[in-house]
Amino acid sequence: MKEIIEDLCQEHRNIEKLLRVLERELSVFDRGDRPDYEVVLAVIDYFKDYPDSCHHPKEDIVAEKFKARDPIVASTIGDLEAEHREGARRLRRVAQAVEHVLNGQEILRQTIDDIIRDFINHERQHMAMEERVVFPAVLNALRPEDWADIAQQLADRYGPLHQPDFDEKFSTLRRNILKMEEEAEAERPG
Ligand SMILES: [Fe+2]
Repeated sequence: MKEIIEDLCQEHRNIEKLLRVLERELSVFDRGDRPDYEVVLAVIDYFKDYPDSCHHPKEDIVAEKFKARDPIVASTIGDLEAEHREGARRLRRVAQAVEHVLNGQEILRQTIDDIIRDFINHERQHMAMEERVVFPAVLNALRPEDWADIAQQLADRYGPLHQPDFDEKFSTLRRNILKMEEEAEAERPG
């Protein structure tokens, strides 16, 4: 059942695509131009919904199983659920900062930059840590019956009927955002 880990890594690739979009818009903001706020808000909305409704629950199920199978090793790799909550908190700060800008409130450009960059950097570090430390340890520790149980839990949670809907919904959203970003880039001078 290594496919579950492969799926999670693929989901990370998708998250990275959106982080890159946000980063590109941030560089527009940094050089003093107006970023495409429609794109920025769409990325924020995506991050408000996708990780907690689709990606993190899967990782949490895997982490739970890992803890049960190998509590000593699992205790050394940190608390994924807490990190996921931290990510959500950082995202809320991003959403607030962008809202302030759009409402015309006085706020230092550098402060906005710091808040958004902090979110992007931590998301990247978090995913890299999962891929370098957590997933290999999980693959090492879990037995076939553990994977079968995880697959069952995932099926119970998302169900064979819901999963395609979920995947479809988020891949459509991603495609739209990437297309909007492409158009925004094409329209930018320089
Ligand atoms: Fe992850």
